[in-house]
Amino acid sequence: MEKFRVYGVSTKDESQRERAHRALARRAAADGMVLLKNNGVLPLKNKTIALYGVGARMTVKGGSGSGNVEERYSVTIEQGLKNAGYSIAKPLWLERFEEKFNRDIEQWRQSVEDKIKGYGPVRTMKMFDIVHTSPQPCPTATPILEDELTEETDTAVYVLARQAGEGGDRRAEKGDYLFSDIELESIRKLAKHYKKLLLVINCGSAMDLSVLDEVEVGAVLHFSQGGMEGGNAFADIVSGKVTPSGKLTATWGYQYADYPSSDTYSYLNGDMTYNNYYEGIHIGYRWFDAMKKDPRFPFGFGLSYTTFTHEVKDIRIDGTKVMVKAVVKNIGGSYSGREVLQLYLAKPHTEMTHEQKGLVAFAKTKLLAPGKEECLTMTFDMAEQGSYHEDLSAFVLEQGEYGLLVGTDSMHTRAIAVLTLDKPVILEKTEHNLPKTADFTEYKPEVHLATYDTSIPRYALAGSAFCMTEHDYSIPEVKESPKEKRILDSLSDKQMIDLCVGGGYSTKGYVIVPGVVGTTSVKLLKKGIPNINLSDGPAGLRVMQAGAVQKSGTVLYPEGLPKEWQWGYLKRIAPFVKSNRGRLVYQYMSAFPCETAQAQSWDVNLLEEIGKAVGLEMKEIGVAVWLAPGMNLHRNPLCGRNFEYYSEDPVLTGKMAAAITKGVQSRKGCFVTVKHFCCNNQEENRDHMSSNLSERALREMYLRPFRMVIAEAKPGTIMTSYNMVNGTYTPNSYDLCTKVLRNEWGFEGVIMSDWNSTDKCSHEAAINAGNDLIMPGNASVRRALKSAYKSGTLDKKQLRRSAARILRLILNAATSEGF
Ligand code: BGC
Repeated sequence: MEKFRVYGVSTKDESQRERAHRALARRAAADGMVLLKNNGVLPLKNKTIALYGVGARMTVKGGSGSGNVEERYSVTIEQGLKNAGYSIAKPLWLERFEEKFNRDIEQWRQSVEDKIKGYGPVRTMKMFDIVHTSPQPCPTATPILEDELTEETDTAVYVLARQAGEGGDRRAEKGDYLFSDIELESIRKLAKHYKKLLLVINCGSAMDLSVLDEVEVGAVLHFSQGGMEGGNAFADIVSGKVTPSGKLTATWGYQYADYPSSDTYSYLNGDMTYNNYYEGIHIGYRWFDAMKKDPRFPFGFGLSYTTFTHEVKDIRIDGTKVMVKAVVKNIGGSYSGREVLQLYLAKPHTEMTHEQKGLVAFAKTKLLAPGKEECLTMTFDMAEQGSYHEDLSAFVLEQGEYGLLVGTDSMHTRAIAVLTLDKPVILEKTEHNLPKTADFTEYKPEVHLATYDTSIPRYALAGSAFCMTEHDYSIPEVKESPKEKRILDSLSDKQMIDLCVGGGYSTKGYVIVPGVVGTTSVKLLKKGIPNINLSDGPAGLRVMQAGAVQKSGTVLYPEGLPKEWQWGYLKRIAPFVKSNRGRLVYQYMSAFPCETAQAQSWDVNLLEEIGKAVGLEMKEIGVAVWLAPGMNLHRNPLCGRNFEYYSEDPVLTGKMAAAITKGVQSRKGCFVTVKHFCCNNQEENRDHMSSNLSERALREMYLRPFRMVIAEAKPGTIMTSYNMVNGTYTPNSYDLCTKVLRNEWGFEGVIMSDWNSTDKCSHEAAINAGNDLIMPGNASVRRALKSAYKSGTLDKKQLRRSAARILRLILNAATSEGF
């Protein structure tokens, strides 16, 4: 047997694969941008542009932390414009700003040098702590001076940029969620000086755009964080080469206070040890609907360069399944474009009250030339639309009229049918899992009863068409194959413990991937169990661009770390060795747009394609498990990781996650990790806080997308979260890890902890609960588990089940072939 196996490529040159994935990333970035306002500014007519704002030259391609990808190079907005033949008139502001930015970075670098002394090279978890206590200066814009304005053009673009990432939430303050005084002043000045002004929002999630109430800004584009090809995609959109078709996946309120959790969210709560979800199921548009409050930009909203009409052609009920067919037509005269139709369900308010409406299906057209049309089909299953009745501990559908609404955003919908259910139905009976323990009462928004015009067609829904599901809550056994049984029988219990504990960044194993964030156990190679590697996402694969693997299996890294890491550690890294002292491995991975931007395409086919591309890159570098997609909901716009999550809506989230999962896992032996299970909706104090919520909100909102992805795409693994839910740490929750995931949803894959999360609760309680794999793990975790085993607090049978699931994952991994 070879001592270790290394993947990657041996040449530095850009490969055909990279080029193909660049093209895909560019398409995805363009499709994920949302045109929020356009008074005749776009597409740009003038080929000469005056360009300002931090994000113009320092374009933020994605968020920070584990969501970062170290791609070969990224195209900034400035570069993208130049590539497309635009000339930048008098770039004086950009030049002066760059000088200041470089000075700031240098100062910061020096200030952290001392702090990192004494820590091991690259990528220890310590890096996160240091970044949290000394965040890299988020470049603040400098004022625009008179001599930086120009008469050369009538068109200006201002790119406002924001960065966020794990460990911290955004601030509802000037310079973050709000524009800074300098940004406001700059926009006022530009609007006065230039006839046409495009404001670009280079931020992973929502912003307060009050500036629009005060200043006449001609056009606003939510660029989001567009990945490595963002700048080129930007030029595609503003030049009119691509017609915008992205739609928001979260509601943008007029102001922060419009959101239900605005005063109690995260650091605003006053007590960081808990967060009560007072709003229950009413997050995002559900809240705005209930409050009858108009947002600035609704969920699902996005403009185009052309105009569409849609007409419903057919509605059919087949048992519990509902199908709607609608024809979308491009009635504009000049531009081809794509449109998204959204289907919402409005439940009757009888004994229970509900959201006014919830998304149940959507579909996007292909590119339609002027005058062309396409018939879209949207389907959903009424059996999956139940509301959770806490007293009955069951999902139910009440008797009454269910409105079916179609529209192009959550504010603009119309009723197209009424489905009349003839009797109440119990769809599914459950045990009470993780019920709310904290003493608080959910807000009870006023209910607005819907009335449907008699002209709207009625369809009968027969209660008898539904079957009731009941669950078996006995311990779910793992059916071991003969090979699995043979291997497991050959392991001692201590070795089984080894199998349930992974390794971190620099663990030497059989499969070596330079800079990967984790691996499964490397202790059992002699037992026929190779290690498999796990790499972060969700914008791509997070590994080092290059490494020299020594004969011993130790990896040395090159000097000149990627920008994000250019501080302190640089000095501590062993200089890169020449190829004769090790095997040089290059791993140039693609940085796709951030996850929210991907979802803003509302295009499941695109997400599947991105998944396939990621799967291909996994195979290229020897990664078996991609720690993505992120599936937490945008409960509040300040969450530092919103950019790593799809949406405020559970159905959109579930559908997007299923699509990308299918893509990745279509590559044999590649698996995803859906994360963070669950209610990891704030970053501040994420390790020590409890998300407190009703069982109804938990099941209908926060668990629902996970359930959907498991049902539709069978993800190989799932990651529990750092936080507690209703007072219990998620990796220690039998209710979540076993009763919900396995008994109720039939999940058979591996459940892993988030990195080091079991340190502050219990490693053995995690395995007892069904959280199979402790990540990243180390010798002290193994010791703790072995002593728990001795004292009898680690359940031996659960240990075997967890070991069996992990073994199966490893044996099925592509990188284990031929071991
Ligand atoms: C993050 C996870 C990530 C892991 C490994 C944690 O800090 O919460 O999303 O997969 O680190 O980098």
